[in-house]
This record gives sequence, C-alpha cells and structure tokens, in this order.
Amino acid sequence: MKNILVTGGAGFLGSHICTLLLQNNYKLTIVDSLINSSLGVIRKIEKLSLPNNINSSNKLKFVQADLRDYKSIKNIFEEAKLKNCPFDGVIHLAGLKSASESVDLPLLYWDTNLIGSINLFKIMDSYNCKTIIFSSSASIYGLSNKLPFKEENIVKPISPYGNTKSVIEKLLNDLYKSSESSWKIVCLRYFNPIGAHPSGEIGEDPNDQPNNIFPLLVKVAQGKISKFKIYGNDWPTKDGTPLRDYIHVMDLAKAHFLAFEYLEKNGNQYLEMNIGTGKGTSVFELIKIFQEVNQVEIPYIYEDRRKGDTAVVYADNLLARKILNWRPERSIEEMCRDGWNWQLKNPNGYGDNL
Ligand SMILES: NC(=O)c1ccc[n+]([C@@H]2O[C@H](COP(=O)([O-])OP(=O)(O)OC[C@H]3O[C@@H](n4cnc5c(N)ncnc54)[C@H](O)[C@@H]3O)[C@@H](O)[C@H]2O)c1
Repeated sequence: MKNILVTGGAGFLGSHICTLLLQNNYKLTIVDSLINSSLGVIRKIEKLSLPNNINSSNKLKFVQADLRDYKSIKNIFEEAKLKNCPFDGVIHLAGLKSASESVDLPLLYWDTNLIGSINLFKIMDSYNCKTIIFSSSASIYGLSNKLPFKEENIVKPISPYGNTKSVIEKLLNDLYKSSESSWKIVCLRYFNPIGAHPSGEIGEDPNDQPNNIFPLLVKVAQGKISKFKIYGNDWPTKDGTPLRDYIHVMDLAKAHFLAFEYLEKNGNQYLEMNIGTGKGTSVFELIKIFQEVNQVEIPYIYEDRRKGDTAVVYADNLLARKILNWRPERSIEEMCRDGWNWQLKNPNGYGDNL
C-alpha cells in the first residue's frame, strides 16, 4: 500500500484527490493549516472513501500544521519513519491561490508558497523521499502566448501568485538536475478546475469571499450575491466575453492518481504537464449552461475589463494524454450540475458538518 503525504489536502482540489487515492487503496497523511478549509472536510473524505470507518485511522491521518513551521513538518516525516512507514511521495497542493489578492499581498504569497515549499523539499530530501507532484497553474503562461497553451510556451506570469508557481517549478527542476539526483517530479499546470464530487458530499468551500468565477456564480444562484459581474463584453471572442478552459475537479484528481502511478514505475525525471480539456467556454456560455442544467436564474451585469485579464486561454493537453494516458471525461454540463448539487446539499459549505 502506497503511503503519501498530501499538503493542502483539506482544500477544494486536495479533498477530491484524497478521496480518489483512498478509494484506490493508498494510505494518506493530510497536512493542512486550514487557512482556507475546515475540519469538516476530513470527515466527508472518510465518509466517501472509508465507509463503516474500517481501519480509517490506519489509512487516513490528519495533521493541522503550516508548511512554514519546519519543526512540525519534520515531525510528520519522523513519525512516519519511526512507524516503519515512510512516505513514498508527496502531493503538494498547500498554498495561497488568488492571483488578484497576491498583487496586494506579495510578501504573504511569497512567504506562504515559496518558504512553505522550500521547507517541504528540504525535509523530503533529508528523509530521502523524492517523488513529488506539484500543483502548478496555467497562470504562469501570462498574457502574450500562442494558443493553445503548450508546455513549451514562454513562461511569463503577470501576478506574484504566478511568479511563486513558476519559481517553485524552477526550484524543482534544479533539484532534478542536481548531482546524483533521484528526484521524480511532475508539475501539473491546472487550467480552471470547477465542479464537485458527484455525490455532493465534497466541493469548493472557500473561507473568505471567493475570487474564482465558479464559486461566485454559485453565490449568485443562491441569491447571496445579487448580480454576476462579467468583466468586459468587447473581447475578441464569439460573444465578447473571455474564454477559459474549465476542467472537472474529478478529472483533475484522476490526473494526480495517474501521475503518481507513472512516477512509481519510471526512473528519475522532471515533467511539466497541462491539465485542461483543451476546449474553451466563454463566461456567457458558462452562465447559460449553468442556468439550463440547473434551472436557476443568474442575473448578470457587464463591467469594464479588469487589468491583467486576457481574452482566450485553453490548454494543449497532448502531453498528459500521451504520457499518463489521461483523458478529461466530464462535460461542462456535468461540471455545472455537480458544482450546484454540492451547494444545494451544503448551502453553508462544511459549516454544517463540524
Ligand atoms: N483552484 C484553482 O483554480 C487552481 C488553479 C491552478 C492551481 N491551483 C493550485 O492548486 C492548489 C490547490 O488549490 P485549491 O483550489 O484546492 O485551493 P484551496 O485553498 O482550496 O486549498 C489549498 C489548501 O492549502 C492550505 N494551505 C494554505 N497555505 C498553507 C500552508 N502554508 N501550510 C499548510 N496548508 C496550507 C489551505 O488551508 C487549503 O486547505 C494550490 O496550490 C493552488 O495554487 C488551483
């Protein structure tokens, strides 16, 4: 049974990845500061993947700690070693993720994302745990890029958040190239993950005001925000609104499972891979589809374009298809249906499950 440490495993993407890995008989330790998540999610992960609580404490452990706290993270590795069950690898999701917030709070973003990652990599190195999947982002490509975005496109982020992701990729690449390296590394560059687990048990539940499009859309559908703001209707797209590559969180979770299995079977390497569907959906189309599949109203207004936005973003996902044999399987309709189903079942997010 593979034993993995998942940093940020209580978050939106982490909870879906952990559920899938547990269902595939992995043993997990989740470390999360809960800065953008809550304990309720851990119970939901258990409920979904370890029914009847059979051996649950043996298969899933949760530690509340911040990656910047070196001692606490080291303790997690030490304990695993003492129990004769060292980690086979790490899935590293923990970090702050709002590009717009990072413009106002660059120090917080560099400190959390970079210092946390350096601590983690140092400790991994000292415990000879050298297999890692890192959550990178399409935001590292910046604005002036050829479409679709390929892994070899120029990396030129425009936000402090994107800068932190790009620098962590570089650091991982340096580790891979270091002498006698045995590091096995995959950086997954996510496009726009949305949706929720089809059971409606887990989904996206940010602690603060959401910045991402989908949680905002959901809040408008719930009536918690009166109107959805569309930033610009004069973009060079079919309906004038920006086009993005939305990917179902379940498809994204599967990419992590396949990436880990791939690294297990192969020697040392460093890979960067896009995780997107390769299809663009405009903001206006997303609203229309959400309304149709869920039979709800989304009132919207047009606002001026936002600084730093771009017209069209979608992935070239051939590398992940070829190397991991991964395929995005879920449609935009399923993303809208599953995301709304989670909200209907949990109008207050995990607040009801503490
Ligand atoms: N969701 C997206 O749209 C998206 C897109 C591209 C990349 N990513 C990246 O994927 C990762 C996961 O994203 P998500 O949407 O699940 O975000 P999330 O905020 O839901 O999850 C991140 C988790 O990390 C935890 N965390 C933050 N800082 C920490 C620290 N210093 N120590 C320990 N835990 C910490 C938070 O409490 C949270 O549970 C992030 O690194 C994010 O940058 C997300």
